[in-house]
Amino acid sequence: MPAQTNLAVFGSKDKIIEGWYWAIASAEVANKTVKPLKFLDHELVVFRGENGKVNVLDAYCPHMGAHLAEGRVEGNDIRCLFHYWKFDGKGECTDIPCLPKPLKIAVKAWHAEEKYGMVWLWVGDGVPNQPVPFVPELKDIETDAVVANSFVKNCHPHVVMINAIDVQHFASVHNLPVKLNLVPNDIEGGKALVFANSTRIPTEKWWLRAIGRFYDKALTYDLSYWNGSNGTVTIGPDFLHFHILFALRPTADGKAEGRTLVITKKRSGFVGAVVNRILLGITYVLGKYFAKGDTKIFQTIRFELKHPIAQDAAIMRFVQHVDRLPHVSWGFRQPNMGG
Ligand code: FES
Ligand SMILES: [Fe+2]
Repeated sequence: MPAQTNLAVFGSKDKIIEGWYWAIASAEVANKTVKPLKFLDHELVVFRGENGKVNVLDAYCPHMGAHLAEGRVEGNDIRCLFHYWKFDGKGECTDIPCLPKPLKIAVKAWHAEEKYGMVWLWVGDGVPNQPVPFVPELKDIETDAVVANSFVKNCHPHVVMINAIDVQHFASVHNLPVKLNLVPNDIEGGKALVFANSTRIPTEKWWLRAIGRFYDKALTYDLSYWNGSNGTVTIGPDFLHFHILFALRPTADGKAEGRTLVITKKRSGFVGAVVNRILLGITYVLGKYFAKGDTKIFQTIRFELKHPIAQDAAIMRFVQHVDRLPHVSWGFRQPNMGG
């Protein structure tokens, strides 16, 4: 297998793949509140109006550059604290107290959506051309989700994402007695890449045979990757699947900042709510298992797949997929004349 060299986008520090990136947990932006958000070098604000809608704007007021997170939400607009100019969710100026009419100016607004208890930010040119990352099995299904964990890894998000398809390391790092064979497939017109395991649980040990009875066919291990930085994992016996979304974004200093989301389908009523709490708790423990053991590796790795072998096929497929995705240049700084 040829080595993967001259990568244009994979692991790049000055390019970012177009797509949805996690911004802030929905619960952190209560109604009528505003929060600052730093995405790479870009300073933004996230605010939620009275109507419950979340908006993301560039942080600096177009009048004199005050940070809008110092301001306050009024109705569905945000008012700058410095001279009280007001802007709506599209960033358009709606009020200047000392003028009879607002000026026709605007602060840049960003596309934002909420899903799985998270505010997602569209990073790309133009309007969003793909859905917010979702668990394929739960497409169009109502869900309960919890933002269960936050973490920082000392390498690019693309490198962290590889972990879930690194079949060799499941034996070496995690002592998993199952050999996985991950079959790739494009979905969403090639915007996302999915893998499904095709192997059955081995039968040489009694406890493996016992677990195997809960799987009609292959051991469920389904993955989906979105813009190389978000990955879903679905595991569990046929009668009960657990879903985890690892949402990552790059930082300006070359790290990966992430959130672990645990997700299950919505169950109705009080009992359903209790069951879901328990299931999401179990999912969280499973998610921790995935992260355990790799932490040290991500502290020091300098990713370069120089000698791939057959067992690295899924990794090679992922790297090729990521390298073909459209990217935008994000390496600019906001002017800030403040002292
Ligand atoms: S700086 Fe915002 S209103 Fe003047
Ligand atoms: Fe791992």
